[in-house]
Amino acid sequence: MTTKIALITGANKGIGFETARQLGALGMTVLVGARDEERGRDAERALRDGGADARFVSLDVTDGKSVELAAEWIDKEYGHLDVLVSNAGTATVSRQRATASQTSLDDMRAVYEINVFGVVAVTNAMLPLLRRSPAARIVNVSSEVGSIAMQSDPSHPLGQMPASVQYPSSKAALNMITVMYAKELRDTQVKVNAANPGFTDTDFNDHRGFRTAAGGAEPSVYLATLPDDGPSGIHWGYVWAGEGEGGYGVIPW
Ligand SMILES: NC(=O)c1ccc[n+]([C@@H]2O[C@H](COP(=O)([O-])OP(=O)(O)OC[C@H]3O[C@@H](n4cnc5c(N)ncnc54)[C@H](OP(=O)(O)O)[C@@H]3O)[C@@H](O)[C@H]2O)c1
Repeated sequence: MTTKIALITGANKGIGFETARQLGALGMTVLVGARDEERGRDAERALRDGGADARFVSLDVTDGKSVELAAEWIDKEYGHLDVLVSNAGTATVSRQRATASQTSLDDMRAVYEINVFGVVAVTNAMLPLLRRSPAARIVNVSSEVGSIAMQSDPSHPLGQMPASVQYPSSKAALNMITVMYAKELRDTQVKVNAANPGFTDTDFNDHRGFRTAAGGAEPSVYLATLPDDGPSGIHWGYVWAGEGEGGYGVIPW
């Protein structure tokens, strides 16, 4: 059996690091995408110390040249890619949380560069490599906050939370992007799905999340290892039912 090659963006910490750790434990070679070399090398070392075949790849998803060079390096080293987990993401670059009416366009553009345009750039750069895999899996790390169905339902816990624009709309865009790639690749061996980690204890939310990073990585790992008869074009992961209660399932769009 040949070793599978998995690239995880934003893998130097949080859910991405845990995703790399879990895919590495399954025997995959994990390519640790990170925009900062020192943080990426530290993560590579920690993953290797844990027994994973991990290699740092310099990758800033907002920098076209960096994306291009990463794809060239993977092509040269491995000639193909089996798994792409587009995990890098942020809720705010300015670190200011704003309601819809207070939205900063600068911050919104910066968030979209990472959560939306960055995913399209990385996916398009990696697709030629993924097409060479016998069973490629693309996982876009999304969020239930991008669910229009949940956000527009006043009786749902999410529908009762403060309204903000940039992050939820970026994940709603990512959900549509997921569906469109799944549609284009419907008759191929490439499956494309969105993962919802649930509210997870990471730097992303100043560690307010109630799920562990290892738990937050589980939906990505599940979708990255789907069998050939598994779904494509769904949003799957932790379904929050309020008060820290929930389970795994399909997230409504
Ligand atoms: N935590 C939650 O509750 C939660 C819930 C739902 C969905 N999510 C999603 O889960 C994903 C991971 O979040 P997390 O909680 O693990 O957050 P995190 O701990 O803040 O990690 C985010 C990762 O993304 C990287 N990143 C940011 N901008 C990047 C860029 N331009 N190029 C490459 N990497 C970049 C960060 O790198 P640096 O270290 O260099 O900044 C970091 O490695 C995100 O897509 C997030 O939207 C999180």
